[in-house]
Amino acid sequence: MGEEPARRVRYRGRVYAARPSEPLLAAISARGIPTLERSVRYHRPRAPFCGTGQCTGCLVRVNGRPLVRSCRYRPHDGDVVVSDGGWPSARLDLLGLLDVLFPGGLDPFRGFRRPAFAAPVYQWFVRRLAGYGTLPPPGSPAPPAPAVARRADVVVVGGGASGRAVLDRLATLGHRSLLIDRDPLASAPAGTDLLPGVSVTLLTPPDPSRERPFTLVGFMDDGPGVAVEARTVVVATGGYDASLSFPGNDRPGVLTADAALGLAPSQERTWFRHAALIGGDRRAVEVLAAHGARIGSVVATGEVRPDVVRAASDLGIPIYPRSLIVGVRGCRRVRALRLQGRGRGPPFSLRCDAVLLAHRRLPNVQLAYLAGARMRWCAGPGAYLPEVDERGRTSVPGLFAVGEAAGVLPVDAAASGERVAEAIAGGGWEGAPALAGVREDGAGDLEGYYRELLAVPRRGRWVACRCEDVLLEDLARAHAAGYRGIEVIKRYTSLGTGLCQGRYCVPDALLLLAVLENRPPHEVGFVRSRPPVFPTPLGALASLDGPARTEVP
Ligand code: FES
Repeated sequence: MGEEPARRVRYRGRVYAARPSEPLLAAISARGIPTLERSVRYHRPRAPFCGTGQCTGCLVRVNGRPLVRSCRYRPHDGDVVVSDGGWPSARLDLLGLLDVLFPGGLDPFRGFRRPAFAAPVYQWFVRRLAGYGTLPPPGSPAPPAPAVARRADVVVVGGGASGRAVLDRLATLGHRSLLIDRDPLASAPAGTDLLPGVSVTLLTPPDPSRERPFTLVGFMDDGPGVAVEARTVVVATGGYDASLSFPGNDRPGVLTADAALGLAPSQERTWFRHAALIGGDRRAVEVLAAHGARIGSVVATGEVRPDVVRAASDLGIPIYPRSLIVGVRGCRRVRALRLQGRGRGPPFSLRCDAVLLAHRRLPNVQLAYLAGARMRWCAGPGAYLPEVDERGRTSVPGLFAVGEAAGVLPVDAAASGERVAEAIAGGGWEGAPALAGVREDGAGDLEGYYRELLAVPRRGRWVACRCEDVLLEDLARAHAAGYRGIEVIKRYTSLGTGLCQGRYCVPDALLLLAVLENRPPHEVGFVRSRPPVFPTPLGALASLDGPARTEVP
């Protein structure tokens, strides 16, 4: 069978060819990391960051449909792609000159509240300037198709190695389960039903009075809503590469390792040639294995593990352990990092054309949060992780977590998957488990790192929340005004309220606030993700209200 032809898409007056398996972003960034939009308040250039469909760095308009994540969207032949932000373009944005008039940034939420009649005019004005774009023409969205309704005893969310290990074992024990995955998987393990290309969330916590307490809702890409009732849910949603907070951390070229590993290899001309790799742990080894020839330096906020030293030395790559990142040079793109040794030494520059964040992995815990599972602050990764016992049980009856989603590293997918499956098959829930706790590796070194970084001179704007353009100064100002705790700071500054729902800013903001407030991060509190935790078409939500189409596997 011949290979499917490439899809041609038009972007900025050029035609790009996308291979059938490639996301749109891979095609339109064939000439390097593109600036696709501008930030809301300060008109800072925004470029792809996460590579997993969770940030705001790759939003484009496709055939008039706004807010399409180009790192996830599979293009169709003839698609017309435009960037929404900036004027005259996202790359060259003259509206940035307004920063001279409004050094505190254009605030679309609170600016010009007096006189009252001026507020709507001001908001109309700044929303257009800030790059919110325009609504699609009236009548263009098709009416929602009927939602899909499913029922299952066991639903596994996430078809990675751990999720599949659970399903395999359940199948051998005679249980038929349902696998839901956000990617368009072609197949599921034998004896398992599959719902591919569906992101699910919980709009309400489980209701233990019902036979099937969990109602997972989601939508199929470009399709109707989905509602799945389940007796038992296994969260196997894996993990992600966390962000790191430093001045200039929002510059185009600062990428997570997820993006570097998932998107960059598909480029004919790669996104970087001498990147600075941030990390001294196992994730850094993976990036070195994939991109070693394109890594110019390894920088770590703490110590560097021997296997990273070995891998970097074999490639002749210099290593900078225990370094503070005090600034980034480059405007449209990262050109150099400014470093300073922790506890000593003058600052110095390190030339690079990208910064790859591979310093820590965090679990995707939104489903556990939304189900009301008990979480625990873990100093090593610097994040809240779900409390799970050795059989993957959380504090919520019927909710299990496995693999990276349970905060376990390294993952022995087969062994942990089998234990979870046997716990489910053996009767599921037998009362409150004796929680064994989760990893507590490290001694909170990141908190110490931020304590040192906040004490040294730094250069450039430090964006604490990329989606909402909240600066470190905003946090410091809120602190000086007497606001304490992440929940209050979130409401006051809007940190963590953007499209990524805090996944990239809240863990580090907690550490920064711990330093500012001089108390441990767990006393600074935590913020719950609020459903839906991923952008959901209103049509899909609306379809859940109408008559559902029950699918029987
Ligand atoms: S790079 Fe596409 S959403 Fe983050």
